Amino acid sequence: MSREPISSKLQEGLYTKRFGRSIVLLRQVNSTNEVAKQLAMYGAAEGTFVVSEVQTNGYGRRGRRWFSPKGGLWLSVILRPRLKANDAARLVFVAGLAVVETLRELYNVAPETKWPNDILLDRRKVAGILSEMSTRNKKVRYVIIGIGINANIKVAQALPVELWKTATSLRDELGKKVELDRLFRSLVVRLEKIYDRFLEDGFDRTLRKWKKYASFIGQKVQATDAEEKVEGLAIDVDCEGALVIQLESGELKRVTSGDVSFIFS
Ligand code: BTN
Repeated sequence: MSREPISSKLQEGLYTKRFGRSIVLLRQVNSTNEVAKQLAMYGAAEGTFVVSEVQTNGYGRRGRRWFSPKGGLWLSVILRPRLKANDAARLVFVAGLAVVETLRELYNVAPETKWPNDILLDRRKVAGILSEMSTRNKKVRYVIIGIGINANIKVAQALPVELWKTATSLRDELGKKVELDRLFRSLVVRLEKIYDRFLEDGFDRTLRKWKKYASFIGQKVQATDAEEKVEGLAIDVDCEGALVIQLESGELKRVTSGDVSFIFS
């Protein structure tokens, strides 16, 4: 792990209460989530960020590899919400909403949320969120939220060919590079705001906003829940964060974990 001194530039003009008061900036690391977990175990404060230019072993949900070359924004934040594990599982929506609102505000684009943790631009994945939690007696000790944004990478040059159809980047979409420092700061500010609201007011408001960007609702989808494949119309994400699918028979099926893909006919 090669380490850079904390960048004063990343913190410049960052008017937050807790988030980003402490930032560990690395040139290269296996995974920012792994570093954040270690820091959290040693007592690092809520709102501590770990950012790395490159990840050699970045990973996503279900242990999938997350390619993290130079040019992307790869970060993790330590959270210590006083919540039960079930409620803290909703934090992935908090982070998703923060990413969408940040991209909308900075680049005037129209990102979409895709259940449960993807952010799409032009129907391709531009960002992913990974939430990992440590609990004791059903209470949360810490949550690590990892966010990967394909910012200044050219997908066809930096990512393997099998991702070319499904992934995109801000650079590919906008036709130019974005300022990573600015993207980072805006995201930190949003994240703190939405997180604080979520803690104060509960999940409803966050979910309502997240759903505004969820264009998969109303679409035919195929979901994989554990080993089961479910096909039907995505009709909602319920107050527990589960995807509700209407099967052809009319029966409603709640999917609580897994992946969703669109069925284009
Ligand atoms: C997914 O789409 O499955 C989630 C991808 C999350 C990737 C980010 S990049 C920063 C952080 N460190 C990791 O190893 N993963 C997350």
